[in-house]
Amino acid sequence: GKLLQVAIDGPASAGKSTVAKLVAHKLNYIYCDTGAMYRAVTWAAIHDGIQLDDDESIEMILSNINIKFVPSTEGQRVFVNETEVTTEIRMPEISNNVSTVAAQVSVRKYLTDLQQKIARTGGIVMDGRDIGTTVLPSADVKIFMVASVKERALRRYKENIEKGIQTPLEILEREIEERDRKDSTRTISPLVKAVDAVQLDTTSLTIEQVVDKIMKIIEKKA
Ligand code: C5P
Repeated sequence: GKLLQVAIDGPASAGKSTVAKLVAHKLNYIYCDTGAMYRAVTWAAIHDGIQLDDDESIEMILSNINIKFVPSTEGQRVFVNETEVTTEIRMPEISNNVSTVAAQVSVRKYLTDLQQKIARTGGIVMDGRDIGTTVLPSADVKIFMVASVKERALRRYKENIEKGIQTPLEILEREIEERDRKDSTRTISPLVKAVDAVQLDTTSLTIEQVVDKIMKIIEKKA
């Protein structure tokens, strides 16, 4: 059938990337993790020691370094110049600073353009915060995934333990709330459900159940 654009948005740790990856795999579509792009720019900014809310310095970084994303059905590898940062961009230091960088005009313009290029031909599942509202406003399928903050913190806690990161649950809960607050209140493309997105509360659903629900929505459009 037709190659669709599937947009999956929602707050931090709602399970978007896990689900998006599985859906992309089932459809043999490209998966594009836009959060990883904002994280890579944040990594580069920290690496270069620049002030994270200084839009002009960030713009300089964007024109001087080469950030490369290699999307595939399996996930996405991220490089800054020749350095692979796929694992590093998941560290707490990045998670706790990415919202500041993601609020800068130059970053949003640069990454939105890039994401629109990647998605142009369709056959893509893209996840983030503003895909249904700003990046792909005419996406064929728009999902807005939510879950209680307690459940999201617990999922992140379990993931962290596997990676050897030991942040207490209460702190994770506060960090997630703080990131959502920053992402929802910024001026440009804040985190908000697109009017035509289907809201999915995943609090008491398994990954398989969420994937099934999304596949049913997609099948109606294909
Ligand atoms: O999805 P993930 O949690 O990796 O996203 C990291 C951060 O990147 C978000 O908290 C947000 O600040 C930013 N982001 C964004 N727009 C997107 C995707 C991510 O502002 N489309």
